[in-house]
Amino acid sequence: MASIEDLDNLRTQALAQLAAATDQPGLVAWKNAFLGRQSDLVRFSQGLGALPAEERRTAGQRFNAVRQALEQALAAAEARLQQAALTSALVAEHVDISLPGHMAALGRTHLINQTLDQIIDAFQDMGFQIWESPDVESDEYNFELLNVPPDHPARDMQDTFYVETPPGAPRVVLRTHTSGGQMHAMRASAPKPIRMLLPGRCHRNEDVTARHGMMFYQFEFLVVGRGITMAHLKGTLGTMAERLFGLGTRARLRASYFPFTEPSAELDVSCFLCDGAGCRMCKYTNWLELGGCGMVHPVVLHNGGYDPNEFSGFAGGFGVERVAILKYGIDDIRWFFSGDERFLGQFG
Ligand code: DAH
Repeated sequence: MASIEDLDNLRTQALAQLAAATDQPGLVAWKNAFLGRQSDLVRFSQGLGALPAEERRTAGQRFNAVRQALEQALAAAEARLQQAALTSALVAEHVDISLPGHMAALGRTHLINQTLDQIIDAFQDMGFQIWESPDVESDEYNFELLNVPPDHPARDMQDTFYVETPPGAPRVVLRTHTSGGQMHAMRASAPKPIRMLLPGRCHRNEDVTARHGMMFYQFEFLVVGRGITMAHLKGTLGTMAERLFGLGTRARLRASYFPFTEPSAELDVSCFLCDGAGCRMCKYTNWLELGGCGMVHPVVLHNGGYDPNEFSGFAGGFGVERVAILKYGIDDIRWFFSGDERFLGQFG
């Protein structure tokens, strides 16, 4: 290369080829070809010394300008390539940095356990001890020892889930109520007086509807001692009602029947929603039904190891779901175990 026109051609040619380079190796090859030691440009600079002095000056300036232009173009091309690589990586990973972030979901205590915690607190504050008894129970503990006669309708296959056992072996059930735990608690404690709360899961072979589930939770309370009367039962339930449903809530006992209590009662609490004015919640009766209770039957006391002539007691078993339904105005028992965040997320 000799002339300044050649230098201009070189520049045009170099810039055109640079625009066509689409990757890093392409840029390296281009750099070698146009700015490397063997390049025409370098050869041109080596020829500068042979030029007459005045030509040498202009040629030198032109050379510098062209070299600078090529170096700048190379830097720009490198930046463009880097940017393109970054963008295609983002597209490949589907990262849309403008999307809002995901909120981390926080766990919370299930409404049934929240309610159970409140129940346990209320009874513990009255000196009750928590007692756990098995979910899978012998027919003997679930029914027989509780004075439930063999022909009682609750024993029907329709109501009870029986566990398969070898022929001739004692019958085993998924407990239909927490009352069987009474017998375990008494036999483990007699003849010491006891004050116990037995929470737990129960099963009944029933169609699932808005009001009934085949699995539900109960809490059983049991007090055995000398001189225990129905007044103690009523006082205990009055305190429980105020703790669960608010100060001023009253408790009422209504005559009922259970094989394991005599006398037996149903507990009603005054409607804490309308406070006597009448509403849909209490079906305009002003009272809400909670569950069964009574004075422990002498046969049951005896089976538990207590002499009914010396000891008396009271007991009861209420539904945990029932408490939550009343407390929070829930219209369908199936919500509890639906796992539906829209429901569960409202509590806690
Ligand atoms: N076990 C009864 C039920 O599931 C409730 C009950 C009633 C429990 C009276 C008791 C009681 O301890 O004394 O419906």
